[in-house]
Amino acid sequence: MIEMEHVTKRFAKDAAPAVDDLSLEIPEGVTVALVGPSGCGKTTTMRMINRLIEPTEGRITVNGDDVRAVDPVIFRRHIGYVIQQVGLFSHMTIAQNIGAVPKLLGWSADKIRARNEELIALVGLDQAMLTRYPRQLSGGQRQRVGVARALAADPPVLLMDEPFGAIDPIARTRLQNEFRQILQRVKKTVVMVTHDIDEAVRMGDRIAIMRSGKIVQYDTPDEILSRPVDAFVEDFVGADRALKRLSLYEVSQVMQPAVDATATAKIALDADLRNALSAMIAANTDRLAVVNAAGTPVGSVTRDAITAL
Ligand SMILES: Nc1ncnc2c1ncn2[C@@H]1O[C@H](COP(=O)(O)OP(=O)(O)OP(=O)(O)O)[C@@H](O)[C@H]1O
Ligand SMILES: [Mg+2]
Repeated sequence: MIEMEHVTKRFAKDAAPAVDDLSLEIPEGVTVALVGPSGCGKTTTMRMINRLIEPTEGRITVNGDDVRAVDPVIFRRHIGYVIQQVGLFSHMTIAQNIGAVPKLLGWSADKIRARNEELIALVGLDQAMLTRYPRQLSGGQRQRVGVARALAADPPVLLMDEPFGAIDPIARTRLQNEFRQILQRVKKTVVMVTHDIDEAVRMGDRIAIMRSGKIVQYDTPDEILSRPVDAFVEDFVGADRALKRLSLYEVSQVMQPAVDATATAKIALDADLRNALSAMIAANTDRLAVVNAAGTPVGSVTRDAITAL
């Protein structure tokens, strides 16, 4: 787990602190999304965890070890890091990029090759990509390589700064979903910075909302969306927070098992409730037939069941 205790960062003596007496506890295996407006201190908070920035005051521990007590260069090899704008080494092939940290750790060439092949498949890219250079990849492909590289040495902690920032909205949603699936397979403690509340809701087990170097609310997405602590958070999460909250639930969670033969429109069992409501509005109806992956009706969902939630 990562623990930050009363951490303050002042870049200049007389300047307002970039991070101001911040305390945050991140349990093992949990993904935390740090969100907030530009300049609120997200990147600074993240970079203090792997000591790319030294705190002015306060204490940070990773798995009980004070980060100041360990050699920062060695320490960083055990923390995966995806930076804003990916930052692949342009003069190195994709294989060399992904294998950079394992090489520093002294892995054998065979072991690195096998790991590269495993990771490139994990992030959904073709093996042929391994011999290419970053400029020969699309932005989305480079972003996947960035994730693969961060995972290479199987670090328990992953820090990701706007990891999907450079991708168009459709590819972005797909990559977010894929990354969530990857995280279900490889248990990691993840700190992800984003300024996009939708990304935070989709990716985070917990969300920390920051403002002027402080955390104003640290809660599950459901809590943040249903009970914002103040007007700032309420404004930040957006007027559509009730709809956003629906995207956290699946149709299967409010489905009634009785198949409704009169329902004219249908929805997949694993669709989210926001899409279910949208389908109802589009079809001008207040109930949908729920179908499984094979297209067989397995139940029904009503507008009342959704609004009751
Ligand atoms: N090296 C530095 N020297 C001086 N001030 C800095 C330095 N790095 C960051 N700051 C200041 O600290 C504050 C927080 O910056 P930070 O990069 O953490 O913001 P952020 O929340 O990540 O913003 P963004 O969403 O734009 O990336 C800003 O006011 C910034 O100008
Ligand atoms: Mg930043």
